[in-house]
Amino acid sequence: MKIVILPGDGIGPEIIAQAVRVLEALNSDGMKFEMETALLGGCAVDVTGNPYPEETRKLAMEADALLLGAVGGLKYDMLSRDKRPEQGLLSIRKDLNLFANLRPVFLYSELVGASTLKPEIISGLDILIIRELTGDIYFGEPRGIKLSDNKQRIGLNTMVYSEAEIYRIAHVAFQVARKRNKKLCSVDKMNVLECSQLWREVFEDVSKKYPDIELSHMLVDNAAMQLILNPKQFDVIVTGNMFGDILSDEASMLTGSIGMLPSASLDDKNKGLYEPIHGSAPDIAGKNIANPLATILSVAMMLRYTFGQERAAIRIENSVKVVLAKNYRTRDICEVGMKEVGTVEMGDAILTNL
Ligand code: IPM
Ligand code: MG
Repeated sequence: MKIVILPGDGIGPEIIAQAVRVLEALNSDGMKFEMETALLGGCAVDVTGNPYPEETRKLAMEADALLLGAVGGLKYDMLSRDKRPEQGLLSIRKDLNLFANLRPVFLYSELVGASTLKPEIISGLDILIIRELTGDIYFGEPRGIKLSDNKQRIGLNTMVYSEAEIYRIAHVAFQVARKRNKKLCSVDKMNVLECSQLWREVFEDVSKKYPDIELSHMLVDNAAMQLILNPKQFDVIVTGNMFGDILSDEASMLTGSIGMLPSASLDDKNKGLYEPIHGSAPDIAGKNIANPLATILSVAMMLRYTFGQERAAIRIENSVKVVLAKNYRTRDICEVGMKEVGTVEMGDAILTNL
C-alpha cells in the first residue's frame, strides 16, 4: 500500500506530521504502508520553480493514495497563475482524474458548544457533501484577463460541464446516497445558468436508475441559507466544483471548526488524495496551535475508501471521539473549562487512545 505524503505549506507540515504518526502506529500494528514524501505547492515552487513538479507527478501516478496537508502562502501571491501553489493542487486533482470529492460534515457531540450555532440546530448533524472536482469554472476555457473590443481589460472564466462529467458524478452521488439514508439533494443555479440546467436534466435522468433514492434539487443561494437555518434536513448534497467549494466551507462551521473536516478526492477506481478541507493558515504556521484532527480524520477516510480497512478507519474516528471526550482541544475548538493543547500534544493524545 503505497502512500505519497505531501506536507505542502504553512501549517501543512505540522498537521501532516501528526497524521503520519497515526499511519506509523498502524504499521507497527501489522499494516504495511510504504510512505514517500514529495513536494507540492509553494514548497515545490521554492525548490523547482513548479508547484507540481515532474518527480511528484511520477510518484503520484504510482501511488495508491496521497495524503496532503495544505498549500498556499502570502509570499506566492505575486507569482503568475501557473506558478501559484494552488495551481499545484488543481493540477494534481485534474491529472489524477480525482473528480469525486467527498466532504463529510460530521459534528462530534463533544463539540456541540464550539459552533456559533445553537446546539439544537446542529446536534446529531451528519451530512456528506459531494463536490465535483475536475470541471466547472475552475477549469473552463476560455479564461484570462484580456482586452475587450473597446480596449477595456476584462476578466473571463467559463463555467462548463459536459454531460459525461455530470453523469459520472451523479452515479457516484446516487451510490453514496444508497449507502446512507437514501436522500440526495442536488444543488445548482438552474434559474440563471444553462450549465446548471444541463446538470439538473442529467440528475433527473440518472435518478430513473435509482428509484430507491429520493432526489431533490435546490438552488445554491437557498442551499447556503438552508444550511444555517436547518442543516439537519440534508443527508447527501451533491454539487459542482465552485458551489461545493463555498458550501463546504460554510458547512464546516456547523461542526465547530474548519479544522475538523477531512476530505477524499477519488478517481473511478478509488485511488484518492486525502486532505483536510482547510487551507495552509500562514498566520498560525509554526506555532504548534493548528488542529491536526481534520488531517488525521483524512487518514481514516483513506483507510475506508482506498484500502477498504473499515475497522482501522473506525479505530481512528473513535480515538478522535475519546480524545474530545477527555476534553483535549486545540485552540480553534477550545471552550472554557477544556484542556487547550498544541498540535503535537493532540497527536500524542490520539496515539495514546488509538
Ligand atoms: C479547497 C480549496 C482549494 C479549492 C484551493 C486551495 C485551490 O479551497 O480544497 O476547498 O478551491 O478547491
Ligand atoms: Mg475551499
